[in-house]
Amino acid sequence: MSVMTHIEDLRVLAKARVPRMFYDYADSGSWTESTYRANSADFQKILLRQRVAVNMENRSTASTMIGQPVAMPVALAPVGLTGMQCADGEIKAANAAKKFGVPFTLSTMSICSIEDVARETGGHPFWFQLYVMRDRDFIERLIERAKAANCSALMITLDLQILGQRHKDLKNGLSAPPKPTLRNIINMATKVRWGLGMLGTRRHGFGNIIGHVKGVENMGSLSEWTAKQFDPALSWDDVEWIKTRWGGKLIVKGIQDVEDARLAAGSGADALVVSNHGGRQLDGAPSSISALPAIVQAVGSQIEVHMDGGIRSGQDVLKARALGARGTYIGRAFTYGLGAMGEAGVTKALEIIHKELDLTMAFCGRTRIDQVDNGILLHHT
Ligand code: GLV
Repeated sequence: MSVMTHIEDLRVLAKARVPRMFYDYADSGSWTESTYRANSADFQKILLRQRVAVNMENRSTASTMIGQPVAMPVALAPVGLTGMQCADGEIKAANAAKKFGVPFTLSTMSICSIEDVARETGGHPFWFQLYVMRDRDFIERLIERAKAANCSALMITLDLQILGQRHKDLKNGLSAPPKPTLRNIINMATKVRWGLGMLGTRRHGFGNIIGHVKGVENMGSLSEWTAKQFDPALSWDDVEWIKTRWGGKLIVKGIQDVEDARLAAGSGADALVVSNHGGRQLDGAPSSISALPAIVQAVGSQIEVHMDGGIRSGQDVLKARALGARGTYIGRAFTYGLGAMGEAGVTKALEIIHKELDLTMAFCGRTRIDQVDNGILLHHT
């Protein structure tokens, strides 16, 4: 195996090792994928100011997100089906994050359950992402389960009560576990490492849901499930109800618009995440990095502003931070690592991003991430 030096190397290896339907699931945007592409492309348009002859010894990327210490301001985003990229994927990613000192966010649509991840990470706190479903008893129980598991933040995703169409998922017949069609069997037979891993685990379905929702023993396609279970009537009143039930740190994710950012700030959440769901929902929405500055300006003094979407490098993290994001999230970047090399691949992704962040910060003449502001950007003084 050649040396892995950037996230793109991990992507290429993941593509070779993960069955097509799960690789495609992680890698796709919705419809024309224009927002998905803009998320990364718009980072490239932001230029950095190089400074020289500035003492760059004793650097630190350490910071905080929602008051919790982080080795760098990068959390692992909630990603559905992580345990299909590689056997026990959520547990592996959570352990990599724990060792690195960054938060791991478990998706409602994970394969490993909340209890599984808590047990297999030795009770180390992680964040739990909540999708609001029609069945409020189930939501209440999920919140209680997250509390019992020592989760240190609850993240409500607000932008996926309906699902943006991803052509490949429909064409691939995405489901978990995969249906044993001839096409799937032929494709999976070529993914030996993945298959051996899956034979060694019993975690093959949606662990937070199966056995916890009446009548759900198995799951059809993600789009059918979403259409049936996710509550399209979700409102800010529900956010308030959840906040009261939860009682701990709260993050609301999926904010694109300044008006919604004001409502998020008014909701009493501790942080909002500027996000277009990795370009997987409203195709035609602006990139997250371009939506960020106006939101920071409008509400940055009232609520911590985070962002995700398009981050594939430490340079991207630095730019987001310079534009006012206290924290960032990586989704695909760690998922590629996981598909490529399991826990070691997630660690690799974090190491790659950390090294890029540290060196780029130094090139810009700063030694501490907490000193980074828009003065490191050209055209943004
Ligand atoms: C779910 O979160 C998805 O984007 O598929």
